Amino acid sequence: MQVRILGSAAGGGLPQWNCRCSNCNDVRAGSPDVQPRTQSSVAVSADGRTWFLLNVSADVRQQVQAFSGLWPPENGTRGTTIGGCILTDAEIDHASGLFQLREGGRFGIFSTALVHEWLSRYLRVSPVLAGFADRPWTELALDAPLELPLPDGSPSGLTVSVFEAGRHAPRYVPETESGARGSVAGLQVQDVGSGGKLVYAPGVESLDGPLAEAVRGADALLIDGTFWSDDEPIRMGIGDRTSRQMGHLPVAGPGGSLGWLAELPLRHRVYVHINNTNPMLNRRGREHGLVQGRGVLVGADGDAWEF
Ligand code: MLT
Ligand code: MN
Ligand code: ZN
Repeated sequence: MQVRILGSAAGGGLPQWNCRCSNCNDVRAGSPDVQPRTQSSVAVSADGRTWFLLNVSADVRQQVQAFSGLWPPENGTRGTTIGGCILTDAEIDHASGLFQLREGGRFGIFSTALVHEWLSRYLRVSPVLAGFADRPWTELALDAPLELPLPDGSPSGLTVSVFEAGRHAPRYVPETESGARGSVAGLQVQDVGSGGKLVYAPGVESLDGPLAEAVRGADALLIDGTFWSDDEPIRMGIGDRTSRQMGHLPVAGPGGSLGWLAELPLRHRVYVHINNTNPMLNRRGREHGLVQGRGVLVGADGDAWEF
């Protein structure tokens, strides 16, 4: 399986349009210490020809442009190597790119039933896209692996399984509907041929249970690295909720993900969905050193693996 980070930032990207935190300022100033980053998305492929997008950010146009594997194939005027899109949740940063990919062709969209329902009812994704292109939607039951089909129905060589990673609902969903199963999933993608296994979980509320189970025997884990500390959003003056209240387990501090990751016997442990305020994004900073020192990578756009 080939795996490529298309976008390693959380919602807003880096720099974010309305942000003057030190990371955003450094990128605008052209500092070599902080890399610009596009919003959260990963591409996977069994054969290097057809790719599945794991989440589709508003930056997908730029991400396709930056990776020749996603350029239209040579036979014909119009076409795509995108074989389907799999969503972990119904957040705007993970789904709004579907509107960018409206110009024709046929490929499937995969998510839990609840994510499909929210995206259809509140953001009108399915009904709007239906007016432009063929986007058959497959609802994935938790913990039930599916052989991912290519748009023509033939096997892609990949299986996907969704597991519960949290119950946080997007802000546009009425509070009465929050806390439900299927709100936030992690993905386990396996290559049928090579046996290579990827776990992708850009929104993580807890390290026990389904996530701990899913990573057993995996080659790589791409995991939620949104905030460094629980109070970062409040301390930085960007919100009034903690990292945990926003559905993101912080990297550091008591119960943070870094200690757990450091002990995890996987070849590749990588932070993705990193918020622009996160101090680990500065390559010269103490926090970056702490992460690398535990054998964990601060993911960047374009990072790629094969297993
Ligand atoms: C999140 O990851 O918490 C959401 O995407 C926040 C947002 O961008 O609205
Ligand atoms: Mn997000
Ligand atoms: Zn910023």
